[in-house]
Amino acid sequence: MDVVVSKLKKGLKGEIIIPADKSISHRAVMFSSLAKGKSKITNFLYASDCRSTVGIFKNLGVDIEFIDEHTLIINSTGMLNTPNKALDCGNSGTTMRLVSGILSGQNFNSVLIGDESLSKRPMKRIITPLSQMGAIIESNDGKAPLKITGNKLHSIEYNSPIASAQVKSSILLAGMNADGITSVIEPYVSRNHTELMLKYMGANISVDKNKVSIEKSELIAKDINVAGDISSAAFFIVAALIVPNSDIIIKNVGLNDTRTGIIDVVQRMGGNLEILDERVVSGEKVGDLRIKYSDLKGCNISGADIPRLIDELPIIALLATQAEGETRITDASDLRNKEADRITAVVTEFRKLGIDIDELPDGFVIGGKQIIKGGNEVEVYHDHRLAMTLYVAGLIAEQEIKINEFQWVNISLPEFLSLMETLVIL
Ligand code: S3P
Repeated sequence: MDVVVSKLKKGLKGEIIIPADKSISHRAVMFSSLAKGKSKITNFLYASDCRSTVGIFKNLGVDIEFIDEHTLIINSTGMLNTPNKALDCGNSGTTMRLVSGILSGQNFNSVLIGDESLSKRPMKRIITPLSQMGAIIESNDGKAPLKITGNKLHSIEYNSPIASAQVKSSILLAGMNADGITSVIEPYVSRNHTELMLKYMGANISVDKNKVSIEKSELIAKDINVAGDISSAAFFIVAALIVPNSDIIIKNVGLNDTRTGIIDVVQRMGGNLEILDERVVSGEKVGDLRIKYSDLKGCNISGADIPRLIDELPIIALLATQAEGETRITDASDLRNKEADRITAVVTEFRKLGIDIDELPDGFVIGGKQIIKGGNEVEVYHDHRLAMTLYVAGLIAEQEIKINEFQWVNISLPEFLSLMETLVIL
C-alpha cells in the first residue's frame, strides 16, 4: 500500500487515545502463558508483532481466546507443550529474543524462524549468555533460524555489553527456570517492563540500580490492562510540535520512567508538553499528554538518554530539523540493528526530502530550521517506525511525498492513519 501525504494547511487539533504498548502486550501474553490459571488481558495491542507472540504460545499448547481484538483470555496449566511446527516470530525481535530465553530451559526442542528483516538481525547477543547458562542453540552464524534443544539451565551473573531490554529479559526468563540466582547488569538501565510485570505476577525478582536478579519462580495468573504506547504517541507528539497552530491531547500514554526519554528531550528543546492526570495501571505509570506547536532549540542526546528513547530516534531526528541550531545524537549504534539499519535509512530517505543530515557511526548530526522540500517517493525498508516518521515529515513538506509500502505500519500501529485523520482539520 502506497500513501501520499501533503502539507497540512491548518494545525492538528483534538484528542486521541493511543493504542496499547507493544513491549507490554508481548510480555502480557508470554508471562500469562507461563502462569498457572486464567488471566484476562485488556487493551491488548492487536498488531502483527503481538499477534506473532500469540500464535507462538498457541502452538506451545496454551489456550488463548480473543474476546475481541483487544481482549484476551489466557488459560494455562503453567506448562508448555512440544510445538508441532517451527515457531514464527514474523518481524518481531522481542518475540524471538524473549521466547528463546523461555524455550532454552524446557524439556522439548523447538525452532524459531522470522521474516526477511528479522532473519538478518543479530541473535548472538542472547545466544552467548543463554549458552553460558547451559542452553543449546544452533543458529545461522548468529542469526535466525534458531534451533533450541531443551536443556537444564543454571544461573549466571551476566555483565551485558549493551543496554537492551530484550537481552536482559531473555536471560531473566531463562533464569526463572534455572537453579540459583541469575543476575543481569546493564551499562544503563533499559526498559523495565519485564521486571515490573514479573514482580506483579509474584516472581522472586529484585532490582538494585543497574542490576536485576531472579530466582526460580512460579507465576500467579493476574489480569493485566496494558498501558498506551509512548513510542506510538511519539509520532503524534512530534507532529503537534512541528505543524503550526497544533494543540492536541493524547490519552492513556505509558509513562514508565525507562521509556520517557522523548518527554525529557522535548522539554530540553523547549517544547510545550504538559502531563495531565498521572495514574498507575497494572503496575505501570500512565497519563494524558497535551502538546502544542512550539519554538524549539536543538540539543545533544547521548549515553543514558539512548535506551530511554531508542525507538523514538527516527522521529526525534525529524523534530530536530525544525529546531533552532544543531542537534547531535550519539551512542546509538544499536539503531543499526533494528527492523532496518535506522541510521542509514533515516539519512538516505531524509536526504531525498531535501533535509541536511550527517551520518555518524553511532548517530546523526541534524541542522536546524530546515525547509523540507518533498516532491518525491520514499522507501520504508520494512520498518514501521520509518514509515510513520516519513508520514509526519510529509505533513510539513513543501510538496507532497509518496511513501511506498506504507503497510509496514501494521507491525505496531494499524490505527496510525485513522488516528491522524481524527486530528487533521481540513
Ligand atoms: C524492546 C526493547 C528494545 C526496543 C524494541 C522493544 C522490548 O530493543 O528497541 O522495540 O520490548 O524489550 P533492545 O532491547 O534491543 O534495545
